[in-house]
Amino acid sequence: MKRTIISDILKEKDSKKLEGEKVLIKGWIKAFRSNRFIQINDGSCLATIQAVIEYENFEEDTLKKITIGSAISIEGKLVSSIGSKQNIEIQANKIEIIGTANPEEVQKTILQPKKHSMELLREQGHLRFRTNLFGAVFRIRHSISYAIHKYFNDNGFYYINTPIITGSDAEGAGEMFRVSTLDPKTPALNEQGEVDYTKDFFGKNVNLTVSGQLEAELAALGLGKVYTFGPTFRAENSNTSRHLAEFWMIEPEIAFADIHDDMDLTENCLKYLCDYVLKNCSEDLQFLNDREIQEEKQKPQNQRNEMSLMDRLKFVTENPFKRITYSEAIKILLNSKPHKKKKFKFPVEWGIDLQSEHERYLVEKEFKSPVILIDYPAEIKAFYMRQNDDNKTVAAMDVLFPGIGEIVGGSQREERIDVLRKKCADFNIPEEELWWYLETRKFGSVPHAGFGLGLERLVMFVTGMTNIKDVIPFPRTPQNANF
Ligand code: 4AD
Ligand code: MG
Repeated sequence: MKRTIISDILKEKDSKKLEGEKVLIKGWIKAFRSNRFIQINDGSCLATIQAVIEYENFEEDTLKKITIGSAISIEGKLVSSIGSKQNIEIQANKIEIIGTANPEEVQKTILQPKKHSMELLREQGHLRFRTNLFGAVFRIRHSISYAIHKYFNDNGFYYINTPIITGSDAEGAGEMFRVSTLDPKTPALNEQGEVDYTKDFFGKNVNLTVSGQLEAELAALGLGKVYTFGPTFRAENSNTSRHLAEFWMIEPEIAFADIHDDMDLTENCLKYLCDYVLKNCSEDLQFLNDREIQEEKQKPQNQRNEMSLMDRLKFVTENPFKRITYSEAIKILLNSKPHKKKKFKFPVEWGIDLQSEHERYLVEKEFKSPVILIDYPAEIKAFYMRQNDDNKTVAAMDVLFPGIGEIVGGSQREERIDVLRKKCADFNIPEEELWWYLETRKFGSVPHAGFGLGLERLVMFVTGMTNIKDVIPFPRTPQNANF
């Protein structure tokens, strides 16, 4: 008999249509009550299906193995349920235990059905996929990834795979992981006694990519509209709730476009993605929404979210993002209560890199809406951003979201070869390293723009999870590369 996926049964709202049908399901036991009711989940959806057994019909040995966490196969007839929690259930007539789970050992794990701390759930990251919470988060993460491809495909973008191993430091932040096959104990040395990378695998010093942007630009300057979606690596030694050493980034790049086109694209894209989740992930979203409401009750009144998770998503889809310049933002911050009362940890003045406390003030207190900040001081942004006519600022853009801070960073790119050359010199970037990038500015150079959207920051926003480690299956952070 062919196996039926539990979500296929439960998504049928009219249980009358299914009654009498014979099914075979396979999954993990979530609960077993009164020696009669087994709750089974197979990961296809949040809900469990109930199977009802007549104790007398099964062998003692099988019954003993019906314990929480074990894997089971059940054949039976779908019947309408008299229980209030479900419309339909399975009258089991054949049971097979596929994989047992020792109850005493299960007690020591997060499979035990009770509330566990987030730390413990992370420590048992190998088992957390079995929990309702992480099932919901990772199903939503999948849906967002699918929606990203759908959005760009439907809007005429081509998916470009940019290299993971690269010789360039696109962001110039120097936070890179080296890739080498040299023997760390006795690496080849040059005459100056330094490591001789010409003897290394690629004949030069290479690293894991911090961004696919520079390569995406090359592709956009031929294919018109492209996007990347891949893993990105940063050796930032910051153990915050918003940083990972390995994260996934989506980087669209469009030719014949300026910073305003870039803002329109990012706003449209983020609205589409939030709307997609609202429309297509309702069961998991409702679960996360209700969970958050319960969690919020534990917090003091002034630290609670003013809006529920679903309301925050709807707010993003229904309201225009506030667009202001960096200089305007600095003025607002200088006039703000926390600045005047010296409540900010970091100083505020024109030229500073905004700290997350400043970003959150703008989004959560001043505008109470997503904010797009543009025209940052050139010194605090990457070399490739287009210089504005004031010669002080560049056409950069950061999108700031409530509870998250920066979710997107992007810019219009410097397309003028002479200005770009000067920028390389100012930033101490040898032209020989980026000759291929500069060359695109020599042959039919055009205004172009793009941005980087951090997948995990978006998943945090959409699920309401507050730690980035809980929205990626296997987080990589300083001192932590388990599983
Ligand atoms: O602002 P960033 O550094 O921009 C770039 O890399 C550009 N090359 C993008 C472009 O214009 N094509 O990073 C973009 C986004 C951030 O806004 C944030 O959402 C995410 O990537 N991000 C991180 N997410 C998790 N952990 C980290 N360490 C992150 N660093 C950046
Ligand atoms: Mg940034």
